[in-house]
Amino acid sequence: MDFGITGLHHVTSGVAGAQEDIDFFTQAVGLRMVKQTVLFDGTAPIYHLYYANANAEIGSVMTTFPFRQAGLTGKRGSGQVQNTAFSVPKGAAAFWAERFKRMGCSDGVAGERFGQKRLAFTHPAGLGFEVIEDAADSRAPWTTADISADVAARGFHSVSMAVREGEEMGRFLTDGLGFSNVGTEGAVTRYAIAGGGAAKLLDIVEQPDMPQGSWRFAQGLVHHVALAVPTETEQTAIKAHLEGMGFTDVSEIKDRNYFHSIYCRSPGGVLVEIATSDIGFAIDEPKEHLGEKLLLPPWFEPRRAEIIAPLEPIRVPHYAGG
Ligand SMILES: [Fe+2]
Repeated sequence: MDFGITGLHHVTSGVAGAQEDIDFFTQAVGLRMVKQTVLFDGTAPIYHLYYANANAEIGSVMTTFPFRQAGLTGKRGSGQVQNTAFSVPKGAAAFWAERFKRMGCSDGVAGERFGQKRLAFTHPAGLGFEVIEDAADSRAPWTTADISADVAARGFHSVSMAVREGEEMGRFLTDGLGFSNVGTEGAVTRYAIAGGGAAKLLDIVEQPDMPQGSWRFAQGLVHHVALAVPTETEQTAIKAHLEGMGFTDVSEIKDRNYFHSIYCRSPGGVLVEIATSDIGFAIDEPKEHLGEKLLLPPWFEPRRAEIIAPLEPIRVPHYAGG
């Protein structure tokens, strides 16, 4: 059944320091910083940093919470996202292997899954990432002085989730959300939505002996994966459908300023968000200058001084734009 999900929306992870995260994503990986704001939930002020491709497209948006200041730590394990993969042009893995090896964040040894070359690399907070060569992805990448368009990341390729058993997670993705099972390779079963291809794939990795990881906010752990729907209409229908299946913990719709969201804990343990694509990042700043200033949602603006005071000072890229 088609519930209107169009692919990945964003991936949100806990990281350690804010500046090291900005340097890693904008310099090492070469993404565009598209938003700096703060975490909307909880009580302690924490940055929420967003990175994406050239057009800040849904399906390319990596977001992070730097939790070092708040001292939030947790355990890596089953029931979590294991790897977040960016799609790069065919032949680009060699560039990334040399680059990440030199930077000390990869062994530089590429592997393969479902016929595509992939290279693992690690974020300073310990998060697992990959670049995967995908010849069919034509999204516009962000480029930097030393990362040209013929090698640059164009957005997400897929997200891999570790589970102890894959069956119920598979049922959640297919019956619950409309994904199709497109094949198994070793411990990995791949699920596709909206025809598949980059940013429309989830890999479920069965690791029966892996101990349970933390679900809480923590540096070095992915907090959730968001899937995209056009509007609240599809979101409301998916909430009702999941509740009809017995998933009583689907959240109410939350206003995330740049999209609206619902959240549901999946049977494998990963927190899955369904986010709308109808608002976007140009709602509060010009699209040529995304991410250059700390922006707060209207309801936090009156408390700006108090929110900003304890945050780690950061330097962000300023982009030449129209
Ligand atoms: Fe999210």
